[in-house]
Amino acid sequence: MIQEGTAQSPVSPALTRSMLRTLGLVATLSGLLVVLSYRITLPIIEENKRLAIERALFKVIPGAISRQDFMITDRGIELAQSDLQGTALYAGYGQDGRLKGVALEAAAAGYQDVIRILYGYDPYCQCIRGIEVLKMAETPGIGDKIAKDPVFQENFTALEARANATGDGLERAIVLVKQGEKSEAWQIDAISGATISSKAIARMLNDSAQRYVPLIQNNLAVMEPAS
Ligand SMILES: Cc1cc2nc3c(=O)[nH]c(=O)nc-3n(C[C@H](O)[C@H](O)[C@H](O)COP(=O)(O)O)c2cc1C
Repeated sequence: MIQEGTAQSPVSPALTRSMLRTLGLVATLSGLLVVLSYRITLPIIEENKRLAIERALFKVIPGAISRQDFMITDRGIELAQSDLQGTALYAGYGQDGRLKGVALEAAAAGYQDVIRILYGYDPYCQCIRGIEVLKMAETPGIGDKIAKDPVFQENFTALEARANATGDGLERAIVLVKQGEKSEAWQIDAISGATISSKAIARMLNDSAQRYVPLIQNNLAVMEPAS
């Protein structure tokens, strides 16, 4: 008995070559499209990021009306330049031209994803004066309260971040406490029911301040205008 449809028809070498050529072409075009869309969207993403930081900057440095960008490098703090590698540091100046504070980005893993913030640091009171969430994917109505809850935001009107005597960290670490239990200037009152997101804010602020506050204090003259 003859069975239909089971015989394999041989594929000619010419057809194989043509299929491989087509596959190669499609792969090359796809690669080019990925590179092209990356190159087109990168400046837009960078510009949006710059605008988000600009907007947040004047909120986290109370009284600032102008800014100057710096970089934290291996050598200390230097004026920002396109070819300089390091951590961005934004200095904010008041109406009188005096340094009002600096702002830095900080990040840590939250409940869903990485939370990224900009925080303002006042080197004269050695305290954090405000935070603005730049990016988060925390649960609406639960974790996203870190950005909106006025009681939580109260934590950042004068949160102590004082450099220690040896200049290698903070005198007292920034820590999270249960809601309503804050009794010290370096403590953050958590949001009840959103401890994970609150803890992420405390962790990122402590990690960043432990590292950068002594550096900022030692390099204030670089950012202060000559009087
Ligand atoms: C669907 C769902 C989403 C949640 N989202 C968050 C969140 O975004 N941030 C957070 O800290 N906790 C979130 N939680 C709660 C945490 O699992 C955890 O219970 C809480 O952070 C502990 O806070 P507490 O110690 O004040 O009870 C969520 C829980 C559920 C069930």
